[in-house]
Amino acid sequence: MDCHDILIIGGGLAGLSAALKISSDLKVAVISKVHPLRSHSVAAQGGINAALGNNPDGKDDSWEKHTCDTIKGSDFLADQDAVEMMCKTAIPVLYELDGLGAPFSRFPDGSIAQRPFGGAGFPRTCYAADRTGMILLHTLFEQCIKKGIAFYNEWLVTNLIIHEGQCVGVVVYDIASGKTHSIKAKAVIFTTGGYGRVYLRSTNAFINLGSGIGMAYRAGIPLKDMEFVQFHPTSLFGKNILITEGARGEGGYLLNNKGRRFMEDYAPSSMELAPRDIIARAIQTEINKGNGIEDKYVHLDLRHLGRKKIEKRLPGIQEICIYFAGFDPVEKVIPIQPAQHYSMGGIDVDEFCASLVKGFFAAGECACVSVHGANRLGGNSLLDAVVFGKISGESASNFVEGGGGKIAGDNILFAEAKRWEQKINDLMRKDSGENVYDLLYQLKDIMSIKAGIFRIKADLTDALSQIALLREKFKKAFISGNCFRYCQEFVTISEFDSMLDIAEVIVFGALKREETRGSHYRLDFQKRDDTSWLKHTLVNWSEKGPKVSFKDVKIGKYKPVERKY
Ligand code: FUM
Repeated sequence: MDCHDILIIGGGLAGLSAALKISSDLKVAVISKVHPLRSHSVAAQGGINAALGNNPDGKDDSWEKHTCDTIKGSDFLADQDAVEMMCKTAIPVLYELDGLGAPFSRFPDGSIAQRPFGGAGFPRTCYAADRTGMILLHTLFEQCIKKGIAFYNEWLVTNLIIHEGQCVGVVVYDIASGKTHSIKAKAVIFTTGGYGRVYLRSTNAFINLGSGIGMAYRAGIPLKDMEFVQFHPTSLFGKNILITEGARGEGGYLLNNKGRRFMEDYAPSSMELAPRDIIARAIQTEINKGNGIEDKYVHLDLRHLGRKKIEKRLPGIQEICIYFAGFDPVEKVIPIQPAQHYSMGGIDVDEFCASLVKGFFAAGECACVSVHGANRLGGNSLLDAVVFGKISGESASNFVEGGGGKIAGDNILFAEAKRWEQKINDLMRKDSGENVYDLLYQLKDIMSIKAGIFRIKADLTDALSQIALLREKFKKAFISGNCFRYCQEFVTISEFDSMLDIAEVIVFGALKREETRGSHYRLDFQKRDDTSWLKHTLVNWSEKGPKVSFKDVKIGKYKPVERKY
């Protein structure tokens, strides 16, 4: 049986950052269900934050101000020590990426270009036009190849194996051949990304089904703050392709059906550069009030920026509009609506990316450290992925080199693989039943209607009952074909259990949290309540359903105050 010192599951920015940090003396491999260059990190557009102070309007910026903005943006739910660490590390990390060859956009003096982003007091978002995720992912992938990191591409991890309180390996399904394997490891790092496709409208890639988060949950690791789901204000109407916040950073306006910049009613000082939770709610409120266009969307106007600026700074947005909507944003306004974009919650880990299970670490969007609290600022997700990806690699290396890792007997891993194969055989025996794509659509519908931007007890309670019904139907799911090579239907079935769990935990947490904070807006509890709710939600899996407990937020020098923008 194959055996590694450290296995990294997920080939996005966090996973590759982890791989590069692991000591070359250790045997390491990255397992990814798609080729790493197709990981969702590739879709990140607008940029990565670091207080470099390169922009003439940003000379007074500092990592302390970045920390303060991030904590305020999080509606004071982020752990302040971890935020401080991330914002301080951001500066050397940016220069390291630059040194590795990441082709950032530049100012005329040759320094890395920076632009304004929402909720930030200074223009501190470094970017490569509007393809920042792509250039970072390619840069790190090239470095991994140079380092000789082993990749298992198009392998889907199906089970995390925990034995006597320690993580000892994984079961994987080779999507190309349809074969199952188990792999031993002394430590496992999950960098499996978010769960955006639990929602109908999402900027996430189709691969973002969240099974990493679900596997950790089923393995006994708590999920933290899952009720906080980020809705990006600007996705292309009808297609839900991300239209970067960089478009507003470059000066774009949001207009309602009267052609009015309505943000002056919601965030008069910051306008289109308020944090995402506030803008997404403002857009939805305008639409609900009848101020949207066709009652469905509002406009993002870039026309005044001019062709030159759009082509230089936002070429990807121009292409998206031309290819997916048939017009050039130089000439026409862009129809936009909010769409699910990011998961603030995730696998509960500390600032060293360690979980309560020995040898199991997590980083990036699947994890919750927490540095984003109740609302993430734009440009902080690539940063989180790189900073905590590196930290997870370092922590796992220290763990293994310090003798913490155990090698389990083959029988332990074979038993898990057998259970998985049994599941495949059971599925193959059915020749009729529920179609998983129908169930998936129903789940997305429930989540979008009942657990979206605005929430209320009756809807959340109803969502829980409907998810329970779907779980029953899912027991009857079957595979319409009998070939397991590149069987996407089987991959979806394999991940759907996790999607049900994740949806349930989001709704469960949203129902429990009787306040409004950041992205979590309760119509029946419209105020933030620090007396009762300045705490993290932890949810554990149990036979009888989710079990909730709470954990203190680590507050430092930034005392919670009302957020004003
Ligand atoms: O709007 C954007 O470019 C997204 C950035 C982010 O999520 O950090």
